[in-house]
Amino acid sequence: DPSPPLIIAVDGPAASGKGTLSRRLAAYYGLAYLDTGMLYRGVGWVMLSRQLDPRRVDDAEAAARAFSLDDIADADIRTPDVGRAASQVAVQPPVRAALLTYQRRFAAAPPNGLRGAVLDGRDIGTVVCPDAPVKLYVTADTEVRAHRRWSELMARDARSLSFENVLEDIRRRDARDAGREEAPMRPAADAVIIDTTTLDPDEVFARALREIDRRLPS
Ligand code: DC
Repeated sequence: DPSPPLIIAVDGPAASGKGTLSRRLAAYYGLAYLDTGMLYRGVGWVMLSRQLDPRRVDDAEAAARAFSLDDIADADIRTPDVGRAASQVAVQPPVRAALLTYQRRFAAAPPNGLRGAVLDGRDIGTVVCPDAPVKLYVTADTEVRAHRRWSELMARDARSLSFENVLEDIRRRDARDAGREEAPMRPAADAVIIDTTTLDPDEVFARALREIDRRLPS
């Protein structure tokens, strides 16, 4: 009997460092990587590009059901507007249901014959892969996360936003993602919490490796 895919679930709020960590973990352990926020951002982007209100549940559900990664091949989904739209469509249960299928399939049969996958998002350890043997919840103080996101945005486009705007955006997004009824952002009961407030990416990676090696079937 082949063993089930090895799944590492990484959850946490915006700009916590979970994406950077997840990519490094996938490379290190030879696993596939799925940024599940990209799916919600993709649906959010489709809504905005069609000038539809992301809060309209019927339109958002239709966009989520019809969504394909090809739709966003050339789209810039890393903008604050798309992040906000992603968080708005993510509140709606039919949107989540439509995207759940893709995520579960990815976890059950990782691409390229890889032996497992790292998935990052908000509800991987609680809803998408509740049986994952390793669950990390990556977080950091709000101001520190806002500062990281602001630096990223400034590096891409110097006439970007003020720090205050980015901070306000992150606060709203955290409140919406953690406060929704369906699959709210929260650590799974068996998740390891990694607070990255005072850690650099190498230190976060080292912490994660220690926790994972302790939990992996050897
Ligand atoms: O990780 P991110 O910032 O790219 O995610 C964008 C939004 O998508 C986030 O604010 C909430 C939603 N999301 C979600 O609800 N569940 C996930 N597993 C991933 C993202």
